[in-house]
Amino acid sequence: MLNKFFYLNTIGCQMNVYDSGQIATLLTGMGYKQTGILETADLIIVNTCTIRAKAEQKAFSFLGRLASLKLKKPELIIGVGGCVAQQEGDHIFKRVPHVDLVFGTQAIGRLPLFIHKIVEKRCRIVDVGLTELPDLTDRQPGRPYSNSVSTFVTIMRGCDNFCTYCVVPHVRGREVSRHPDRIIDEIRDLVRFGVKEVTLLGQNVNSYGKKEGLLSFPELLQRVKTIEGLLRIRFTTSHPKDFDNSLINAIKTNEKLCQHIHLPVQSGSDRILKRMNRKYTKTLYLDKIAKLRDTCPGIAITSDIIVGFPGETDTDFNETLELMTMVQFDGLFAFVYSDRPNAPAVQFNDKISEQEKRKRLQTLLELQENFTREKNQALVGSIQPILVEGSSKKRSIDNIGRSRATDQWTGRTTTNKIVNFNYSNDPPMDAKILPGKIVQTKIEKAYAHSLWGKPIGVESATGRLKGEKSYAA
Ligand code: 5AD
Ligand code: SF4
Repeated sequence: MLNKFFYLNTIGCQMNVYDSGQIATLLTGMGYKQTGILETADLIIVNTCTIRAKAEQKAFSFLGRLASLKLKKPELIIGVGGCVAQQEGDHIFKRVPHVDLVFGTQAIGRLPLFIHKIVEKRCRIVDVGLTELPDLTDRQPGRPYSNSVSTFVTIMRGCDNFCTYCVVPHVRGREVSRHPDRIIDEIRDLVRFGVKEVTLLGQNVNSYGKKEGLLSFPELLQRVKTIEGLLRIRFTTSHPKDFDNSLINAIKTNEKLCQHIHLPVQSGSDRILKRMNRKYTKTLYLDKIAKLRDTCPGIAITSDIIVGFPGETDTDFNETLELMTMVQFDGLFAFVYSDRPNAPAVQFNDKISEQEKRKRLQTLLELQENFTREKNQALVGSIQPILVEGSSKKRSIDNIGRSRATDQWTGRTTTNKIVNFNYSNDPPMDAKILPGKIVQTKIEKAYAHSLWGKPIGVESATGRLKGEKSYAA
């Protein structure tokens, strides 16, 4: 038995988390065991992200810190995967000389080969080819890498949209969808090992299967729904230009689909949306939101916004704030614009100063805070079915002043809000609270990023869950 350890550092999006699961499974298959302690690792892999400048800096700063380890332990293998690897290729060796392996976004499946070769020949390897037929290697059946109730499943890779600020099409290649049978097999297998919720991942899930003439995305959702034992389905990300009635109807009729959609708007100014090459207007976006809320009242909507895109004036920025006020998102991910290699916006003039970008970000976050708080507050007093994800021991003071350990449970509503609660058999329930169970919870308090509840019943039913849509957010 190989007595070697790997350390895996994942930076970036859910797609990278999924890819890291594949990496970990491949390395475990080679006999490596995972360690959380850098010093004990024989192999260190960094799965990198380059979507914004900050993510790339994070990768290089981590890699820089590995120099002293490599000096002490020259046989240590250091590998860089993901989007920075794809973008930089062998330049990484120049910038970080102690790296042994650079593998791109389509080379994960060849990782065992690379490692064997480096161990044998002590050579450097770089593999960053991008092909029209990217690596859609299926996850090996069997126990999933992490023992969680909720997991990600990639349904497509790459992107064809070429938003002018975005590096993704350049580092992930063209859009390709996985075959529906493979996706269904993978989810069935995950469910066998206790997974209750999947998040289907793609850069633009609405265009799933279109190129290949496979199932449409709503049809895929229908098939995923039939998987017995799977309780909840989520997906991300939807592009507003392709978000249509068929998906809205799927959200209404597919009872396993969670009542949450992430629909990145990026800006509220038509002029900026055009310069971003987003292919929709503010009015079109608002119309789609209105239709969605009409059909699915209570659905939670979150979004992404970029502030300080080149040429964004105060008027453009105010239009974004106006849109936010009209929509009142449940949550928002806001980013300051950063130039990314090969993205057309790098060439745009009228760049906004860092100071102005920071100021706009602050204004936007302060506005959003009110909406998030109000949305959370509106749930106080309602009963929400929570999918329990896990627990941790917390010390609490009981009513006669004794300190004791209680299980603090955590889970999420169908609208993707985190709910924490304590349970110590009061009131007694028919079934035990366990990860993977649906617990009906009365919401008692709202915080900035989570809710606090009191459990009132445990459900284990599949299919439509009582009370699942019984509130208005
Ligand atoms: N600068 C800032 N934010 C960006 N995003 C993508 N590219 C950039 C960039 N160059 C944001 C978008 C996208 C999210 C994943 O990251 O809002 O939806
Ligand atoms: Fe990037 Fe636009 Fe594709 Fe999203 S849709 S990954 S923002 S190019």
